[in-house]
Amino acid sequence: MLRSIGNQFKRPTGLLGKIISKVMMKGNMPDYLKLIPELDIKQHDIVLEIGYGHGLGVNMILSKYDCTVSGIDFSELMFKQASKRNKKFIESGKLELKCGNFLESEMSPDQFDKIFCIHVIYFWDDLAKPFTKIKTALKEHGMFCIFMANVDFIKKMKFTKDGIFNKYSKDEVVDALYKVGFKEVSYSLNSKGYIIKCC
Ligand SMILES: C[S@@+](CC[C@H](N)C(=O)[O-])C[C@H]1O[C@@H](n2cnc3c(N)ncnc32)[C@H](O)[C@@H]1O
Repeated sequence: MLRSIGNQFKRPTGLLGKIISKVMMKGNMPDYLKLIPELDIKQHDIVLEIGYGHGLGVNMILSKYDCTVSGIDFSELMFKQASKRNKKFIESGKLELKCGNFLESEMSPDQFDKIFCIHVIYFWDDLAKPFTKIKTALKEHGMFCIFMANVDFIKKMKFTKDGIFNKYSKDEVVDALYKVGFKEVSYSLNSKGYIIKCC
């Protein structure tokens, strides 16, 4: 049972996925509220969210900022929920949501001003490949921003004990970002975890 709960956080499906989605919306809303201002979104910025889940984050951004947003998530359930929640933004051409695996997706260079992900990197077994893709997809002065729970918080959760979650420390993530060529990496700590920003 714990394994299937862990898997649902990685890729929500079916009825349990719907329940987990509600849990994430409520539990992770404060994390979106903390991270979004850090993106310093400017008019006409092109923003990418990796692992948009329920789609609340892209909704919050487009309700407040005059920018264009793309998202990629490999859960069909999340794709459907996020598309429904953001119908008006999709119809107006402000939002494009894709259903696909970011790790296998093609990313053209110099596309985005800002890229971010919240509670997603635990599911990447290797950080070098996805971080390199992100670095390539960013424009010259673009920014990548991560929200990740503190590793002690992750270790305490019962459903994270089965190998589905990679338990990265903040230092491992910062190191991996420098290694792929980000020049400036900074972080701040809050009650649940870290916001790591790099450019
Ligand atoms: C723990 S949920 C977080 C959802 C949302 N960001 C939040 O914080 O509430 C992780 C999300 O990332 C998606 N995801 C995980 N790995 C992915 C990958 N390799 N490519 C695309 N989406 C991925 C999952 O489908 C899921 O919706």
